Amino acid sequence: MCGIVGYIGEKQAAPILLEGLEKLEYRGYDSAGIAVFDGTEIHAKKSMGRLKILSELTHGGETLPGTTGIGHTRWATHGAPSDMNAHPHFNQDKTIAVVHNGIIENYMKLKKKMQDKGYTFKSETDTEVIAHLLDYYYKGDALETITKVMHRVEGSYALGIIFKSEPDKLYAVRKDSPLIVGKSNIGNLIASDVPAVLKYTRDVYFIENEEIVCMTKDDIQFYNIDEEELEKQPATIEWDIDAAEKGGYEYFMLKEMYEQPQAVSDTINPRIKEGKIVIDELGMSDEEIRQIRKIYMIACGSAYHTCVSAKYVFEGLARIPVEVDLASEFRYRHPIYEENTLAIIVSQSGETADSLAALREAKEHGVRVLGIVNVVGSSIAREADNVMYTWAGPEIAVATTKAYSTQLIAHYLLAMKFAQARGTADEKTITEMVKDLKKLPGQIEMLLENKKKIQKFANRYLATEHVFFLGRGLDYAISLEGSLKLKEISYIHSEAYAAGELKHGTISLIEEGTLVVAVATQEELYKKTLSNIQEVKTRGAFVMAVTNVGNTEIEKTADYVIYLPKTNPYFTNSLAVIPLQLFGYYVSLGKGLDVDKPRNLAKSVTVE
Ligand code: M6R
Repeated sequence: MCGIVGYIGEKQAAPILLEGLEKLEYRGYDSAGIAVFDGTEIHAKKSMGRLKILSELTHGGETLPGTTGIGHTRWATHGAPSDMNAHPHFNQDKTIAVVHNGIIENYMKLKKKMQDKGYTFKSETDTEVIAHLLDYYYKGDALETITKVMHRVEGSYALGIIFKSEPDKLYAVRKDSPLIVGKSNIGNLIASDVPAVLKYTRDVYFIENEEIVCMTKDDIQFYNIDEEELEKQPATIEWDIDAAEKGGYEYFMLKEMYEQPQAVSDTINPRIKEGKIVIDELGMSDEEIRQIRKIYMIACGSAYHTCVSAKYVFEGLARIPVEVDLASEFRYRHPIYEENTLAIIVSQSGETADSLAALREAKEHGVRVLGIVNVVGSSIAREADNVMYTWAGPEIAVATTKAYSTQLIAHYLLAMKFAQARGTADEKTITEMVKDLKKLPGQIEMLLENKKKIQKFANRYLATEHVFFLGRGLDYAISLEGSLKLKEISYIHSEAYAAGELKHGTISLIEEGTLVVAVATQEELYKKTLSNIQEVKTRGAFVMAVTNVGNTEIEKTADYVIYLPKTNPYFTNSLAVIPLQLFGYYVSLGKGLDVDKPRNLAKSVTVE
């Protein structure tokens, strides 16, 4: 994880670096640091804790002179969060400074070698080895030095580097960690993500693996690992800086929940033409779709939960077998690859290390890969054979909401497209589904209006220690997401179970007052889930139920009921998730936690 920034230009660098880091704090926030070159010396300031501490220490950057600099916000991997382990890291005589996002896998071996050569290390990080290696190889040619270091290190990195002996230059390089370059009229910038540079420019270069950037205040050059110069074209960022700001909401998570109706409709609308599903970016003819025999759906976290939902939709509607995998498992499980298989990799950031590795693994075995991705131009988007974007816009809160909702939509659209092509759903069914799909944004909006009621309920559970989520079929899939949403931001232990499974062990944990959230939206499974609710109720549970409007008899068993408007049974997860997101949000808020930046987490998980 971690976020890196860099600036070289006419303005004082430190305030610009701090502004950029603020936009990247979602990537890690246990410590931060900047290094600025004033033409004579490289000055650094680092601090454990949130960025605002660093900002206060430097009076918003004012106390650090110089127009070239690099900055870092950290999510610790090697070495605990501390001032010493915070980046930038330096060579011994402080003539080279480096910030790093990624992991150097062979750093122990390299560290030992450098120690044997007399180098002393000040931190416990893997990054410091890069600073010393740069020092070791530097004989006056920075580009050559960087390529030599690239040949020595294994793992992932996006680096920002300044050399005291090259006062008018800033270098950057990446392998398997995101890096972009922004060209602006006040100078040039590097960053891990676009929001960090948007204040100054919309002209952005996406840096590919093993590309090196050398920039001055008015020029940018790109090189490959063989030091050959490359031609690159900038992309223009269409979305606005406001999209990445809080806009009056207390937390990004709340703002992003409220953006769901728009995000969902932006993801649906371009793919419906004359009542039919048209997904041009799929790049597959109906004949090619008919040839697909199996689909792998691969992702992490909430994106994985959308795949669990999608399995039910694809298998039910398009009658095609789906294997759902956690990316971290898929990449090492040596699956049996067969012909005519499609892999769908789902990711908000498009940078999740395990998902990217799973993509590469599938491609290496000749499997065609479709990415469902939110961040345009991200690694997964670029490396997939085809990419279907979820038009959620920038998502900042660590707990995903609108990206999750748009991923569900992408799955529905694909399943409907497959059903259309394979002839497993007739025209009338698809037409009805399209109608229901188009109603979802308005229904989500309506459910968001319940927020006060859910806040009141949530406030009763601030001190609770365990929560269980139950559901069958698609309701099990949404329980997984409801449970993750709650635990990641409220620190309350919660688990999701297929409702029929509880009695095989876990029911022994239910005691007087245990909160159980039961989801019962699947009409054909409704009675079964009702019996399972009864089972936990008998053992003292307090039950909050989420079900479809009209299922009023549930009130005889459940203590608190949330009704969802009517939709196609395959789409209920899009509605059920709203009260569950609100519940997690308000528990976290009520406990006074930092909703957007929960402890130990980061938005973009670019390490294994
Ligand atoms: O960027 P990705 O969609 O690949 O991220 C996957 C997970 O890290 C992410 O969904 C995570 O589980 C969220 N914190 C859930 O809210």
